[in-house]
Amino acid sequence: MGQILDGTSYTLGVCYYPEHWPKAVWEDDLRRMKECGISVVRIAEFAWNLTEPKEGSFTFDFFDRFLDLCQRMDMRVIFGTPTATPPAWLTKKYPEVLNVREDGIRLTHGGRRQYNYNSPVYREKTALIVEKIAEHYGPHPAVCGWQIDNEINCELDVFYSEADEAAFRIWLREKYGTLEALNEAWGTVFWNQTCTDWEEVLIPKRARSGSVNPHAMLDYARFISHSARSFVKLQSDILHRYRKPGDVITTNGRFDHLDNHRMTEESLDFFCYDSYPNMVYDAHSGKEAEGLKDRLSGQFLSEVRSVSPVFGIMEQQSGANGGTGGMAAPAPKPGQMTLWTMQSIAHGADFISYFRWRTCTFGTEMYWHGILDYSGRENRRIAEVRLIREKLDAIGEAAGSRYLAGVAVIKDYDNCWDLRIDTWHWDLEAVSQNAVFAAAQKLHTPLDYVYLSDEGASAPLSGYSVLIYPHPCILSAARTAQLEEYVKGGGTLILGCRSGYKDMDGHCVTEDLPGLLRPLTGADIPEFTRTCAGDAPVLIRWGERQYEAEVFCDQLTPLESKNPTERPGRVAECTGETAEVLGVYENCYFAGSGALLRHRYGKGCVYSLGTVFTEALAAALLRETGAAEPEADIMKLPECCELAIRVKCGVKYYFVLNYSDSPAEVLLNHPFINLMDAKEYKEKMTLEPFGVAVLRRPQEG
Ligand code: GAL
Repeated sequence: MGQILDGTSYTLGVCYYPEHWPKAVWEDDLRRMKECGISVVRIAEFAWNLTEPKEGSFTFDFFDRFLDLCQRMDMRVIFGTPTATPPAWLTKKYPEVLNVREDGIRLTHGGRRQYNYNSPVYREKTALIVEKIAEHYGPHPAVCGWQIDNEINCELDVFYSEADEAAFRIWLREKYGTLEALNEAWGTVFWNQTCTDWEEVLIPKRARSGSVNPHAMLDYARFISHSARSFVKLQSDILHRYRKPGDVITTNGRFDHLDNHRMTEESLDFFCYDSYPNMVYDAHSGKEAEGLKDRLSGQFLSEVRSVSPVFGIMEQQSGANGGTGGMAAPAPKPGQMTLWTMQSIAHGADFISYFRWRTCTFGTEMYWHGILDYSGRENRRIAEVRLIREKLDAIGEAAGSRYLAGVAVIKDYDNCWDLRIDTWHWDLEAVSQNAVFAAAQKLHTPLDYVYLSDEGASAPLSGYSVLIYPHPCILSAARTAQLEEYVKGGGTLILGCRSGYKDMDGHCVTEDLPGLLRPLTGADIPEFTRTCAGDAPVLIRWGERQYEAEVFCDQLTPLESKNPTERPGRVAECTGETAEVLGVYENCYFAGSGALLRHRYGKGCVYSLGTVFTEALAAALLRETGAAEPEADIMKLPECCELAIRVKCGVKYYFVLNYSDSPAEVLLNHPFINLMDAKEYKEKMTLEPFGVAVLRRPQEG
């Protein structure tokens, strides 16, 4: 895929803002980048005024000069379209392009992403600037790719302008055809919300009365995703017309209310992520998720991999984080830049571009540090980049390889978006997602994420021996059919509580729970409850061990396969064997009822867990299903190390990453070459603090 993801080597880049520095330093900056092995700069993504300083008047001198210099210095450029920061002349003259807050206040100039995707004027101005930039700079030999906008849906992912409301109605008309159908889907008979004219249909707002129609909110989230995708497509279509062969089109970041899979499919060559491992947990106050700290970043990288199996990092943290607006996180410790770079690579990145070259001396990001500090003097971080380049050259043969996992977590956008307003569901999902990831990490079990939709899955389900779909509250028949096919074919599916209780409009189903999943799970849920914070913990007995049930308890009963229908009018449901009860609640008023069921179905089986996935339960289920520690017979790793496996032409590359600031000992049952130092290790290998090894079997080279 172009020059930066060609599958033959790892490319290093950096984000650079020529407009922040005197022209006199450009050449020296580029020279020093080259000297570190950086061969790509990302530029221009906020610089609309430098090409169109006045409406309709275009000038290209500034970036011509910079691109010519890049060409002379043999530096490649990813050019950003500048639409994340509209010019002041534009927002002043056409205030309708601005986004409006939920409380009706229109945003003003300054900051970024203050525009809305649906304003006809903004779309027209966007198309024009992108066309001018693409037409002029597209042929330049230094340009190797394009970044659309910057971090679509970052900062703001809700829109309430007049243009959005109008576009929402059009979108709804296309979806529903009639107002009757819309009223039905939104359940507007509740609280007298029935619309009798399309003009009465509004974007749902919490501000109106504190609570909001959940079905309208779900559609609104889908609509935002649609709007964002169409804005990206508008730009991508233009860039496609002007790009040189081999030049790539991408965008960066992964944010809410956006179907990144569809956006990538319809508009991009591949997806890029912005990785700030010290930001994913609150390093400043010491709060962290499941003790993983910067290791948690792997969860997001794994989600990115589901969008693009091989991807890029457009912004990789290289200094302390912080804005003037409150965020503050520490600098990477010695070795951590290498660790984080390798974390991205282990998860599927072949292109790593650091944010940013030199820390800006002004503006809201003056504490958002880059490789260099304000003066540009030599420092330990630039020295570490030089070493990273050497290491990437040493492991170059692994470029283009694909991540290998036997287990995947299933997600879907409908449930992700519905979560934002569903307080019954939200904390289930948050607890389970962290716990499953943490358990897999600590058990050295490579894990993928797969997104499911009615049209199919982002990767073939049959490629995984175990799938965990923590809480598919919203479920359709088409999705259930895909799960059934997977299990029938021999797969193991693990489901958590609250599965199958809503339809695609977000209405609770009237079938007995777990609704569409009754045949597959062989389970009945006659009763359920949230746990009560003040009560004694609810306990589950599973074999010899006891576990705590958190947040929610479905009381599971096996469906009788011989006598499936107890209530008149219900169809026979249990097509497999009767499910086995593996775990029961031990206390509380439902002591003795099922907490964990296993149902053999076709060639596979389904585990139903009545509660959320705590780390202990997730680990136990990974062990129970044989998915845990797939490489345990060839290497034993301490808990502080992550194992990621990438494969190319049948050769497996084992990335071992030590997240601890102490040395870590890895025991080997097989001789391995560590590509990082080109040495062979037979029985054990000691990783230094934050150290990384990339191992392969000697005979496979
Ligand atoms: C990213 C963004 C960059 C810069 C960086 C540091 O989210 O894309 O433009 O703002 O964060 O704040």
